Amino acid sequence: MSRRLGVLISGRGSNLQALIRAIQEGRLDATIAVVISNIADAPGLALAQAAGIETVTISHKGWPSRADFDREVAGALTAHQVDLVCLAGFMRLVGQPLLEAFPNRILNIHPSLLPSFPGIEPQRQALDHGVKVSGVTVHLVTADLDAGPIILQRPVPVVDGDTPVTLAARILEEEHRAYPEAVRLVLEGGWRIEGRRFVALRTTA
Ligand code: GRF
Repeated sequence: MSRRLGVLISGRGSNLQALIRAIQEGRLDATIAVVISNIADAPGLALAQAAGIETVTISHKGWPSRADFDREVAGALTAHQVDLVCLAGFMRLVGQPLLEAFPNRILNIHPSLLPSFPGIEPQRQALDHGVKVSGVTVHLVTADLDAGPIILQRPVPVVDGDTPVTLAARILEEEHRAYPEAVRLVLEGGWRIEGRRFVALRTTA
């Protein structure tokens, strides 16, 4: 049975688009049940609507506490019977109410090889540090920022003359391949968490 994804966005939505395309092309057996944005005019909302996906906007502003916002988001995901939550450029920290509603069922994609360069502007951080290789990480979301068990990583070379913009563009191409793959891996099941490690059941022969 096709599993139900909830995708959380705040902006452009190119990773959302990559998930939509992977589903349309049969590379990912899933349905996007809802796209939720905390920003009312996030361009990704239009992408979802164009694909016939239901969208919900829940502003992070005006709540008595951050936990109230989290509870509202968790409620919307639950109401749409979501099995797995994918953060795709969602620019909010995920708090306990959401983590407890979806334990080990929230994924994030980050444009660096974690644990290098967590947080904001990871491509600029990579260039400032002078690394020769950066990349993409898809990980399970925990209470600590960009620090949950790693599901999948892909390296991306840094080349002479790179700027944060050119490096981000090269990494983004890899993100669009990596995210659908990671979601497929998680949906296949049979994995377990050992300490910090995400261990897939199937090993390659
Ligand atoms: C991506 O680089 C993603 O890794 C990071 O935020 C960016 C979102 O881009 N978390 P988009 O909205 O998916 O185009």
